[in-house]
Amino acid sequence: MQVDINKKRYPNRSYDALRNIHVAFPAGCTTLIIGTSGAGKSTLIKCMIGMSSFDGKITDYNREDIAYIPQHPALNQNETARAAIYWSALFSRLYRGSHELNNAVQHHVQTMGLQSVQNSEIHNLSGGQRQRVSIAKELIRGKNIIIADEIDTGLDCGVSRDLVTKLCDITHRTGKTTIIISHNIVNIELYDRVVVLAKGSDKTGGIAYAGSPAYIRGFFEVNNYVDILTKINASDEGGMGQADYFIGKFDSLRSRR
Ligand SMILES: Nc1ncnc2c1ncn2[C@@H]1O[C@H](COP(=O)(O)OP(=O)(O)OP(=O)(O)O)[C@@H](O)[C@H]1O
Ligand SMILES: [Mg+2]
Repeated sequence: MQVDINKKRYPNRSYDALRNIHVAFPAGCTTLIIGTSGAGKSTLIKCMIGMSSFDGKITDYNREDIAYIPQHPALNQNETARAAIYWSALFSRLYRGSHELNNAVQHHVQTMGLQSVQNSEIHNLSGGQRQRVSIAKELIRGKNIIIADEIDTGLDCGVSRDLVTKLCDITHRTGKTTIIISHNIVNIELYDRVVVLAKGSDKTGGIAYAGSPAYIRGFFEVNNYVDILTKINASDEGGMGQADYFIGKFDSLRSRR
């Protein structure tokens, strides 16, 4: 999936929300999107899933092939975890006959580690278990591009790491394209690629880094991953206000290539 957003401006705003966003999301890879609050992460996703208009184009994908998992997915609280996944599979019309359907449900219950809670109603599940149900509901529909906005916010470090590990395994095994917005930079090494969005002094979001997590500390000149956000956050947000510098640095590196 290739994203080329020249400019995105909301009608009631005097500044662009995003500018010069040119980035590829390769199949078989998990990409973490991280960045300053208000840098345009959710806006970028809204453009990608066709919920928001922009100046530019998105190519090398099929819009029907996108599964979008919002931060707070709507689940029927009185349904069991298994039933939620079952109905999603049934409505997808991908599976012929009850045997194939039940096998698919069982497979996805197992893949997301939900065996022990599959017969519990959603309101009795923890936040992490609910997130796994909503991911299983999307995966069972057979979509090839998975886009998730802050699915691990509010989960403890272990649960969030487990969730990301599961999504990485599925991505590598199936060749799907997986894109996850997250504030949990501690999991950065689990991802194949990282896109850092920063909010410049003109309030516009731009790309401060896109590439492997292996080179990101060198690029931002930090020893610890958490210091990346400190560098790009504005000084009134407790940061060092270097967003413009790193957006410019990434742009000049890219144009030299
Ligand atoms: N519907 C909207 N109408 C007008 N402006 C908007 C709208 N949605 C977002 N914005 C503005 O666009 C910019 C980017 O917002 P966005 O929600 O994409 O940021 P974000 O990176 O997802 O932030 P967060 O980490 O806080 O979720 C902000 O300046 C925001 O005020
Ligand atoms: Mg957001």
